[in-house]
Amino acid sequence: MNNIKLTVDLDGKLPPIWIDANLIEQVILNMLVNAQHSIETSGSIVVKTRSVTKAAPTGDGSLSMAEIQITDSGCGISEKNLQRIFDPFFTTKEVGKGTGLGLSVSHGIVKAHGGTIEVESKVGTGSTFHILLPLQPAKDAAIQSVGSDR
Ligand SMILES: Nc1ncnc2c1ncn2[C@@H]1O[C@H](COP(=O)(O)OP(=O)(O)OP(=O)(O)O)[C@@H](O)[C@H]1O
Ligand SMILES: [Mg+2]
Repeated sequence: MNNIKLTVDLDGKLPPIWIDANLIEQVILNMLVNAQHSIETSGSIVVKTRSVTKAAPTGDGSLSMAEIQITDSGCGISEKNLQRIFDPFFTTKEVGKGTGLGLSVSHGIVKAHGGTIEVESKVGTGSTFHILLPLQPAKDAAIQSVGSDR
């Protein structure tokens, strides 16, 4: 059993956002399980929310997003593996321990919400996953296609 300190730091000023709560819960849970698995004996996991402003992909204007950050002090991810972690069935876990679908499915869910996932990681130091979700629902707000296209 490893010894992990969990800290939750939520931004109380974030407005409610338009999401499928069950699906986003699945994303967060998968990231927390990954974070837990990345810590061999003891360490920390921090979950933080805040609002951020990103340049619109169209180049004009900006988008307000809700950000959920999940940071662990675990083993980190090598640069080579970072390119592959969202690929379906990519896992570094032993046979029977991981299917390699968690991040692929999570990416599909976040994308269906009009959001993105960004990762920063350093081997031996830990990782931060940034889940960014638009504060405003897209015009065609129905979350229609959930599945990975990677
Ligand atoms: N927080 C993390 N720290 C270190 N490595 C990570 C982290 N999150 C993901 N990874 C790496 O990415 C791989 C893919 O993660 P993903 O969640 O898709 O599959 P998995 O955890 O191996 O299996 P499962 O399908 O049970 O989730 C992991 O096997 C691991 O190598
Ligand atoms: Mg996983």
